Parts: sequence; C-alpha cells; structure tokens
Amino acid sequence: MTDEKCSVLEHVDVGGGYRRLKVASPAIVKDVQAGQFVHVRVPQLDESSLRRPFSVFDAGDGVLTLLYKEVGRGTKALGLVKAGDEINILGPLGHGFPSKASGTALLVGGGYGVAPLYLLAKTLLKSSSAKVKLFVGGRTAADILALDEFRQLGIEVFPATNDGSLGEKGLVTVPLDKEIAALSASSAPFEIFACGPDPMLKAVSERAISSGAKGWISMDRHMICGVGACYACIQKTVRGNSRCCIEGPVFAAEDLVWE
Ligand code: FES
Repeated sequence: MTDEKCSVLEHVDVGGGYRRLKVASPAIVKDVQAGQFVHVRVPQLDESSLRRPFSVFDAGDGVLTLLYKEVGRGTKALGLVKAGDEINILGPLGHGFPSKASGTALLVGGGYGVAPLYLLAKTLLKSSSAKVKLFVGGRTAADILALDEFRQLGIEVFPATNDGSLGEKGLVTVPLDKEIAALSASSAPFEIFACGPDPMLKAVSERAISSGAKGWISMDRHMICGVGACYACIQKTVRGNSRCCIEGPVFAAEDLVWE
C-alpha cells in the first residue's frame, strides 16, 4: 500500500453524470489487481471526510484510471479537480478478483459497478484462456458505460436497460440467464464476476450458487478509513462480520449473507 502524490493527467465528463479521472500513479499501478480500490484524498473536503474510495477502472504504464458517478458531496468536490492538479491517493486496498478463470468468465456490472470489470477483463484475457463476456445493466443507455473500451478488448457485450433504450429491455439478469442456460445445457464451465447495486449482486449470487458456478461478488459499502480501523464497511458473511475494505470488497458468492 502506498500513499502517493499523483498528478492529474485528464479528468473528463463521459455523460450521464459520470466522469473519468486519469492520474500518474506509478507506485500504485505497479501493485494493483483488478477489483482492488484506492482511497482518494479529495481537495476541499473537511478533515473528517476527506477521503473517498474508488474502484480502479484501468491501470497500466504508470497511469491509474478511475470511473465514477457524481452522487454526493465527495464526488462533486472531486469533480472540480483538473488536469495539472495534484491529489493524494492511498492504495491499492482490499482483496480483488481472482486473476484467472476456468471456462467462460461472465462479467456482470450495474451502472458504475462496471468500473472494476474493465481491468478484470484485461487481466483474465492476459492470464488465462478464459473466454470473457460482459453483461451490463442500467436504467437508461446513459448508465451503460465504456462499452466501446470493452468491445475493443474483443469481448462480447450484452447490455440491458430498464427503459429498453439500449440492448435488452429489463434487468441485466435477462441476457445473463440466457447465457447461463446455454452454458449449463452444454455442461460448459463458467464463473461469474459481478459489481453493482445490492439487488443485482444478490440476484447474481443466487444464480452462481444454483448453477454450481463460482461467483465472485464485489460489494459496494460505505467506507471511511479504508484500512480496517473504523468498521463502517461491514458485510455479513458465513464467517461473521467482514470488513469490505480488508476481507473484501470481493467475496465468494457462497460466503455472503444477505439480509
Ligand atoms: Fe474502515 Fe473498512 S472502511 S474498516
């Protein structure tokens, strides 16, 4: 883990209230694994709430890329950061996704939950012979992010939107269920990797367990310290309460206890 002073290379609006931030961060990039997160010290916030956790969207050549939505005071303040500014970033933090998969890797993202899946897709393609497919859901087409980047990796993408403005109309489980049924029918091995809102993660976990596939679920929890000290990020698991910033944010589907 490094506390690194990073200069902002690019910070752009990508539509729908989402932003992409690129910083020079060679020390963190060197160690980061897909699914880990970083804690960004946000300028203009008071001392008690000055850091915010973000998934790593991409990392390579010393450049760290974050993809986030402006949803509250912290992300709005971060939105004011511009190219040339310096910000402190602590990371990499937490336990990420496995770097290999057997059979087909089904990546499932909801909204900005797609953020850790891009580095994961790159990692899986590089480190294993797994075929990778992306299933991504959102309320409208504006919530479906980075499709072109995923397509450029050569993977198939299956979007779904509640209003039908892009891909299948309905939840992301609509195209996912079709794929699971096809793979199960041919007894082809697969694993599921997911990040997004809790109802989606619960639905994906249930599918992984009922189909006998491994499921890797990245939980999005409120975090304050990011390093295991404050217990703000508790997730119930079969082993008791776990901290998402230390034992997670990625958990095996069968370990999670849903309330
Ligand atoms: Fe403090 Fe996890 S954020 S213990």
